[in-house]
Amino acid sequence: MGIRIRGTGSYLPEKILSNFDLEAMVDTSDEWIRTRTGIAERHLAAPEQATSDLAYAAAERALAMAGIDGAELDAIVVATITPDHVFPSTGCILQRRLGAAGAFCFDLEAACSGLLYSLEVAYSLMKVSSAKYRNVLVVGAEKLSSIVNWEDRSTCVLFGDGAGAVVLSNDGTDSPDFLVCSDLHADGNYSDILIMPAGGSRCPASEESIRNHAHSIHMEGRDVYKLAVTGMVGACRTVLKNAKVAASEVRCFIPHQANSRIIDAIAQRLDVPGDRVYCNIDRCGNTSAASIGICLDEIVRGGQVSEGDYILLTAFGGGLTWGAMLIRR
Ligand code: UT7
Repeated sequence: MGIRIRGTGSYLPEKILSNFDLEAMVDTSDEWIRTRTGIAERHLAAPEQATSDLAYAAAERALAMAGIDGAELDAIVVATITPDHVFPSTGCILQRRLGAAGAFCFDLEAACSGLLYSLEVAYSLMKVSSAKYRNVLVVGAEKLSSIVNWEDRSTCVLFGDGAGAVVLSNDGTDSPDFLVCSDLHADGNYSDILIMPAGGSRCPASEESIRNHAHSIHMEGRDVYKLAVTGMVGACRTVLKNAKVAASEVRCFIPHQANSRIIDAIAQRLDVPGDRVYCNIDRCGNTSAASIGICLDEIVRGGQVSEGDYILLTAFGGGLTWGAMLIRR
């Protein structure tokens, strides 16, 4: 059928917040942040930029690479935990900007695993109905700075803003699909350890919720850390085993960019050589659903992968959600 990645794009807002800038805001140090997380700086959206603006910039670049315009899109999936509004969906707002009148649009919320979940859904749509879904846009976009408690040093140093986009197209040939194998999971038993408590129907906005900083990210860092390593290693092993592909055959490994210690631990356990592991956490921090899409665009534009090369993606986030996906360029 030939469902291929026809274009990728990414966008990082201009403003950079360094660890040294954070030293002036909370009781932290560049040394602590670098050694514990691998982060040196992160990009922050301007106050007037919403998630759809970041998504739009990334989508335009992906469409340009694909050589199609918005009117040719059949569906738009936006993975985000920071939508412009609770409703309407960021997908619909993006559709208007792109002039994608023929596309059906929705947001998908799977936190940091959002891009993998969205690729799985988009691929499934295209597989089931190849005539109906020829071109699908998948975007991971986040303005996490809008839901960070800037007084909480345990979380505010971790996150950044950005967007990554992928255009999937059915080229109508019998070339192999981009998706080789996937393994996705969720476990709602751990929904409390990585959560934004307020702003939904459980706890609508109130003076108290604002006073308690309940409209921001709360994370039990150590618990998440352990589960992240186990979950991503397990999913990667399953995918490689089912695809009958050895770790040494993977040209590029893109793990979710949450912590460089987590990335090193996974790569080591999977036996992926260090020079095959892609990292931009030092420049971008954790951009949740945008993280893998930004990395993917950077390796494509940087010429780090050639047609047919295996790329292994893995992610972990709130929900809990996690998974791995073996794709080919
Ligand atoms: O993207 C979704 C998935 N997210 C993740 O996978 C994140 C997983 N978790 C992590 O990456 C790590 O747990 C963190 C980076 C969040 C924290 O690192 P850690 O090594 O687990 O540190 P910790 O939370 O155990 O804290 C160690 C110490 C504490 O002080 P005491 O109690 O030992 O005196 C914290 O209060 O570090 C302190 N601390 C800080 N110190 C300076 C916490 N945050 C900071 C900070 N600056 N920003």
